[in-house]
Amino acid sequence: MTNSDFYGSELSSALAEPVSVSWQSPSNIAFVKYWGKTGRQLPVNPSLSMTLSKAYTESKLTALPRENKGEVELDFWFEGIQNAAFGERMTKFLQSVTDIFPWLGQVNLKLETHNTFPHSAGIASSASAFSALALCLCSLDTELNGIMLDETEFRNKASYVARLGSGSACRSVFPGIAVWGKTKALAGSSDLLAVPVSEIHPVFAALRDSILIVNKKEKAVSSSEGHNRMIGHPFAEARVKQAGKNTAELLEAIKNGDKKNFIRIVENEALTLHALMMTSDEGFMLMHPETVRIISRIQEARKETGLDICFTLDAGPNVHLLFFEDQIEQVNKLIVEDLLKNNEQNVRIDDFYGTGPLKIG
Ligand code: DP6
Repeated sequence: MTNSDFYGSELSSALAEPVSVSWQSPSNIAFVKYWGKTGRQLPVNPSLSMTLSKAYTESKLTALPRENKGEVELDFWFEGIQNAAFGERMTKFLQSVTDIFPWLGQVNLKLETHNTFPHSAGIASSASAFSALALCLCSLDTELNGIMLDETEFRNKASYVARLGSGSACRSVFPGIAVWGKTKALAGSSDLLAVPVSEIHPVFAALRDSILIVNKKEKAVSSSEGHNRMIGHPFAEARVKQAGKNTAELLEAIKNGDKKNFIRIVENEALTLHALMMTSDEGFMLMHPETVRIISRIQEARKETGLDICFTLDAGPNVHLLFFEDQIEQVNKLIVEDLLKNNEQNVRIDDFYGTGPLKIG
């Protein structure tokens, strides 16, 4: 796979009437974390994630006739309201992919999106938002330019484009478990796009993720800024090595249904991510006291009860509690009676292993 496989052409004649496409695309939770990037949005280490099911973005992209070609023009609507801040990021992204979609300046664009998860729940929305937009762009390319791709080529192109919007978004294009970043442990893996993992033991298709909301506020340091702080980080080299090893071992565990090693690696990755934040040149901390209390309780409860539970963290304070379907009753009880008992927010979002994006129009 090379960059040039994905580059298209201008429209041969002006658009006569509006054309719309719609996709819903889920968020994902990383088990091996992408942290640090280089070049045109290339990861410094491989990452591995599970695509979620219920937390998704629904996007409708419309191309409208336009008199003269020029700069990308986007009319952006988020949850029924014109949103300037988010619209600006989307416009910048679209401007950056005119080499892939040269027709973007020949039409007027309208993008209408909404999320199924609460806007202010502290859940990363860039993965679902940019994967939905990338899928819409690829579908419009087919509609407007007659670009015919088979299912695999289409998903690959969408993953490539999604990556340019937000790195983690390239993994959301695929169902189940996906890897982004070149690693010897997985044939066909690439820095340019994610690839789906095919060898998954059935126990992992029953994975669940309950997101325990500790704080809903926007975080003090964005992911993009966090990635920047990996440049020249004193532990950068060791981190890249560790992520490679964790990816290889996690792929083995996922193939063999090895829950014990899964738990060990996933927690190691979550704590490493936050340790890297704290030990960067301008150190910062996104965990809250409540985050630490909950993750300590999860580790204790695992020892006390023998439940196959573990945690992971995004670049934020909320705790993702991972467990398996067959223990859902015991884990629910643990969440209600223990983990969230004295938590002021007392909000959770229950999600699970997902089947990937869906074209809805
Ligand atoms: C901690 O994909 O949000 O969630 O590429 O700058 O948009 P940008 O960053 P983003 O970073 C995600 C970081 C992470 C780990 C992960 O999802 O792999």
